[in-house]
Amino acid sequence: MKELKIFGIVIVFTLVLYWGVEPFAHSQMHKHVEGDGFAYSDLKAVTVKGDAKRGETLAAACIGCHSIEAKSMPAPMNAVASAEAYGVNPPDLSMAGALLDEKYLTHFLLNPAEVTKSKHFAMPPSAGSEQDAADIVAYLQSFAPKEVKPKEAYEFACGRCHANRYGNWTQIGDVPKTKSNIKTGVDLDALKFQGNLGIYQNKLADYMGKLPPDLSIIIRARSEHFLETLIEDPQSQLPGTAMPRVGVTKEGFEKVREYLEETGDPSKPARESIGKWVILFFVGFTILAFFWKKEKWHGHH
Ligand code: HEC
Ligand code: HEC
Repeated sequence: MKELKIFGIVIVFTLVLYWGVEPFAHSQMHKHVEGDGFAYSDLKAVTVKGDAKRGETLAAACIGCHSIEAKSMPAPMNAVASAEAYGVNPPDLSMAGALLDEKYLTHFLLNPAEVTKSKHFAMPPSAGSEQDAADIVAYLQSFAPKEVKPKEAYEFACGRCHANRYGNWTQIGDVPKTKSNIKTGVDLDALKFQGNLGIYQNKLADYMGKLPPDLSIIIRARSEHFLETLIEDPQSQLPGTAMPRVGVTKEGFEKVREYLEETGDPSKPARESIGKWVILFFVGFTILAFFWKKEKWHGHH
């Protein structure tokens, strides 16, 4: 009887902790931010219709800084030289029309600093009117791929600022496979790459005020809700932060999240596929046990 009472008390305390104290502490440590479902409702609707043909001509202004690989337009400078000029490498625009919200992108071209909500955004206003902006957006959408891979989404939206060690990604590209010299043991190509990465990261840190963190395992450190609301509007979670609002669509965010899951929790697919086999094993085992029992008891009644 005494044991039962103690057991009851333990249960009650556990439940109080679980439902009362833990969520309370959590809500005190992280303020709750209401998401907006990537609707960007602070920006007014675009009323003009974009003309992709006109946009193509206007986009000549963009390729002074950006590459568009989908249109075989190379970057005017490599990532390190770009960082020396702007503090960061302007992203390739092949995927912009697929990953960024149309309304966001139109307003962004008119006023990058205000729309990204970052005090100093290195890109100057690059469209003269709402019509011009809408035309450029229509052009970017005209060659945007239907399917974007998770890593491509990450590279475009986050990769110029955030490395991802487990994804083999640095801000200047994938870590290359290199070999040491047999006679000296010196891997000159790896050293050169690290040197360039160092220059880039120093410039980026000057531009941002600090080096943006590696995101390899962020999926384990932060909740899904935190990541979603942070990416939708960094200021909502980190007031005053230099991280820009990047303007991804909901689907674009899902792709980025998929990549962060791949790098931060690489055993998840294996775990999930093994679960099925474990259940199958138990089902098979139960059936065998049933027949075994039937066989043993046969004739005993
Ligand atoms: C003077 C150089 C320059 C020009 C010209 C320029 N950009 Fe940029 N752009 C940048 C830089 C630098 C960044 C990244 C800034 C950052 O992340 O802080 C950027 C970022 C972007 C982004 C990413 C925005 C986001 O929300 O993630 C898009 C899209 C973009 N530019 C499109 C364009 C288009 C379209 C044009 C032409 C109409 C253009 N840019 C002209 C330098 C330039
Ligand atoms: C132009 C550079 C830039 C881009 C692009 C960018 N970030 Fe950031 N990010 C930063 C900086 C700078 C910080 C550090 C913020 C701070 O401490 O104020 C940061 C911080 C973060 C953090 C850490 C927040 C925390 O406190 O744990 C996460 C998560 C993050 N970024 C995710 C992303 C993702 C995902 C993307 C792409 C969708 C992205 N960022 C795009 C610059 C950037």
